[in-house]
Amino acid sequence: MRAKILYMTKTGHSRKIAKELASRLGIEAFDAKQSPDLQDTDLVIVIGGIYGGVSNPDLVKFIRSMDTPTFRKAALITSCASRKFFQKEVRAALVERGIDVFAEELVVWGSFLFYGWGHPNASDFDAGATFVEKVMKLS
Ligand SMILES: Cc1cc2nc3c(=O)[nH]c(=O)nc-3n(C[C@H](O)[C@H](O)[C@H](O)COP(=O)(O)O)c2cc1C
Repeated sequence: MRAKILYMTKTGHSRKIAKELASRLGIEAFDAKQSPDLQDTDLVIVIGGIYGGVSNPDLVKFIRSMDTPTFRKAALITSCASRKFFQKEVRAALVERGIDVFAEELVVWGSFLFYGWGHPNASDFDAGATFVEKVMKLS
């Protein structure tokens, strides 16, 4: 199972998670804003935050405008201060592109103002690594 990580970030948390998981798992991580190379992969782990209750609209736009995706599967890791939101709009955009999105979505703590201070931290990275390993095994 060939896997890559795709992230988009506004305040750096998704990048932090992506880089840490890439280093722990020995896979590549790409910023969606920097012409990511998503060729030669079966599975893409998409990491992003929540802003005003919704997914990053630029990440949704990126997914809608990607050249015909060659990968068939994706899984979502969501970073948000309340841990109550999912990247629903990102999931819908992936499904629209014919990509099979893993039903389970990992939601880890982000931080905003006083909420979730100190996150993402080692426990978030541990949860992320366990999730990616599970998705890779099941894909
Ligand atoms: C402008 C703004 C709005 C946010 N709105 C929400 C929100 O509605 N719900 C929530 O749980 N977290 C919210 N957050 C927290 C972010 O989702 C969280 O910090 C996440 O880790 C950000 O990811 P990023 O650093 O990769 O951009 C907001 C953060 C910012 C900066």
